[in-house]
Amino acid sequence: MENQSCVLIQTEWDIVAARQLGRNVAKEVGFGTVDQARITTAISELARNIYIYAGEGQVCIEKIIKNGQAGLRIVAVDKGPGIPDIRLAMEDGYSTSGGLGAGLPGVKRLMDDFEIDSSLGSGTEIKASKWIR
Ligand SMILES: Nc1ncnc2c1ncn2[C@@H]1O[C@H](COP(=O)(O)OP(=O)(O)OP(=O)(O)O)[C@@H](O)[C@H]1O
Ligand SMILES: [Mg+2]
Repeated sequence: MENQSCVLIQTEWDIVAARQLGRNVAKEVGFGTVDQARITTAISELARNIYIYAGEGQVCIEKIIKNGQAGLRIVAVDKGPGIPDIRLAMEDGYSTSGGLGAGLPGVKRLMDDFEIDSSLGSGTEIKASKWIR
């Protein structure tokens, strides 16, 4: 897809690259600096989860338009172990790695739409979109 650019996540540097890509696309779409920061934070959290839990995966950034409204979608995909209990993983403070457990619920709050598709053994796909208000 022409409107989509992806970063392979294999090292911590790739997390930085995904953030930078997200910031550039967010600027192009027309988001203000506060929303740019929300979007880059969300990208960091999803990329970091891929790095920590799946080892590797991909973060794609898409420009989207619906009903004449412009926005940005983050698609984070990996073929890692998957999330056995999504409801639990979405709770504030739930972490299997001794983290704060703030990443996924944070991404949901920072973005407008949030979808998570994951099952044990087949990996995880998370889509999160934000629209220009
Ligand atoms: N891509 C993924 N693959 C497998 N499990 C995941 C993935 N992303 C998240 N998880 C699971 O969901 C839990 C919650 O994730 P979340 O990002 O909210 O918190 P955390 O990573 O544990 O801590 P924090 O992000 O605050 O440092 C994780 O502890 C992990 O068990
Ligand atoms: Mg996390």
